Amino acid sequence: MLNSLRTQVGIIGAGPAGLVLSHLLYLHGIDSVVVENRSRQYVEERVRAGVLEQGTADLLVEMGVGERMKREGLLHSGIELRFGGRGHRIDFQDLTGGKGITIYAQHEVLKDLNNARAATGGQVYFEVEDVSVHDIDRPRPKVRYRKDGNSHELDCDFIAGCDGFHGICRPSIPSAVLTEYERVYPFGWLGILAEAPPSSHELIYTYHDRGFALLSMRTPRISRLYLQCKPDEDIAQWSDQKIWQELQLRLAADGWKLTEGLVLQKGVTGMRSFVVEPMQYGRLFLAGDSAHIVPPTGAKGLNLAVADVQILARSLKRFYDTGRRDLLDSYSEVCLRRVWKVQRFSWWMTSMLHRFPDENSFDQRRQLAELDYVTGSRAAATTLAENYVGLPME
Ligand code: APR
Ligand code: PHB
Repeated sequence: MLNSLRTQVGIIGAGPAGLVLSHLLYLHGIDSVVVENRSRQYVEERVRAGVLEQGTADLLVEMGVGERMKREGLLHSGIELRFGGRGHRIDFQDLTGGKGITIYAQHEVLKDLNNARAATGGQVYFEVEDVSVHDIDRPRPKVRYRKDGNSHELDCDFIAGCDGFHGICRPSIPSAVLTEYERVYPFGWLGILAEAPPSSHELIYTYHDRGFALLSMRTPRISRLYLQCKPDEDIAQWSDQKIWQELQLRLAADGWKLTEGLVLQKGVTGMRSFVVEPMQYGRLFLAGDSAHIVPPTGAKGLNLAVADVQILARSLKRFYDTGRRDLLDSYSEVCLRRVWKVQRFSWWMTSMLHRFPDENSFDQRRQLAELDYVTGSRAAATTLAENYVGLPME
C-alpha cells in the first residue's frame, strides 16, 4: 500500500543543512517533512567538524537552539599559525571588530536541533529506505521512500536536497544541466579524538617539513588532532603511539608541551574541493554538501551548509508570504557567490599549510613567505580573520 503525505517542503537528509532548514521553516510558519536514511542515534554520534562561525552561532541562538551551545561551547577569539617552530596569533576579535568562533561539535548541534524539532511537532523520519525524487520540474514534486516495509509518497511544493555529497538529489538532476568543478588533493587528514585536555587555549594550524598538523578540541577535557597523511593512508599502520610521536614532532615549539591521552577514535579523510552549478533545478534546491565540498582546512563545511539554508529559507518565506519567486529564482546565484569565496579561502588555507608531493624548494619558500606575510601584515591577517569568522551574509 502507498501512504500519501502532503507538505510544503520535502527535505532529504537530517544533517546540519536539513535540520537547520526544517527548523527555520517552522519559525517562518512553513510546513516541512525531513527524511533521513540513518538512525537518529547515528546522526547524533557521528564525529564531524566542530567550529562555528560567528554568524552560525548567532543564528542558532536566534532560532532558540543555542542555549546548550552558549553554556558548553568554547568561545575563541583567535587562532595560532605555527611554523619554523614558532607560534603567531591571528587575533580575530581585534581584526574583525569583535567577532570570533565557537567550538561546539557538529553532532551536539544536531542533538539540539533534533530536540527542538521534536518539541515543536517537527516531522523528522529516520531510518527510511529507497528515497527517490519525482516530477522535480513540475509544480508538485514528490519524494518516495520506504519505512518499516511500507511505501510512502510525500507530495510537496518544493524539495530541498540536503542529503550530502553521496546523496540521491544531485544525481536526480539531468546531468546535461549541471557543471561540476573539482579538485582532489594529493593528501588526506588522519584525525584522532583524545581524552586529553587541549594543550592550547586556541586552535593551532602548523606548517612543518613532515607535513601539516592541527590541534583542535571539543571540550576542556577532549582534544581533536589531525595530521596530514597520504590520501589512502592505512589507519591500521598507525598505532596510537606512532600518532602521538608524529604529532609531537610536527607541533613542537619552544617552551610548549603537547599533552597526550587515551585515543577515543581515529580515522582518515580524503580532501577535495567540489562545486556543482547551478544549485537548483525546477523545484529541487540543493543545499550543503550535496552541492559543494570544501577541504577541512578552515572548517567551513558546516558553516557553508547553514548559509545555504538561510538563503533558501528566506526565499521560501518570500514565496509563501507574497507569491513572489524572485528570491527562489536567484537562490543558486546568491549561494554560489558565497560558495566560491569560501572555496577560495579553504583552498588557500590548504595550499599554504600542506606539503605537496610534486612541490620543489621554490614552493616551500613561497609557502613560508606567505605565512610570514599573513602573520606579519595587519592587512593580510585581516583577510584571514574575516574569512575565518565568516563573511557577512548578502
Ligand atoms: N536519503 C535520505 N538521507 C540521506 C540520503 C538519502 N538517499 N543520502 C544521504 N542522506 C543523509 C545522510 O545520512 C546525512 O545525515 O543526508 C545527511 C547529509 O548530512 P551531511 O553529510 O552532514 O551534509 P550537510 O547537512 O550538507 O552538512 C554539511 O556537515 O558533516 C559535515 O562535512 C560536512 O561540514 C559539512 C556539513
Ligand atoms: C575540528 O575541530 O574538527 C576542526 C577544526 C578546524 C579545522 C578542521 C577541523 O580547520
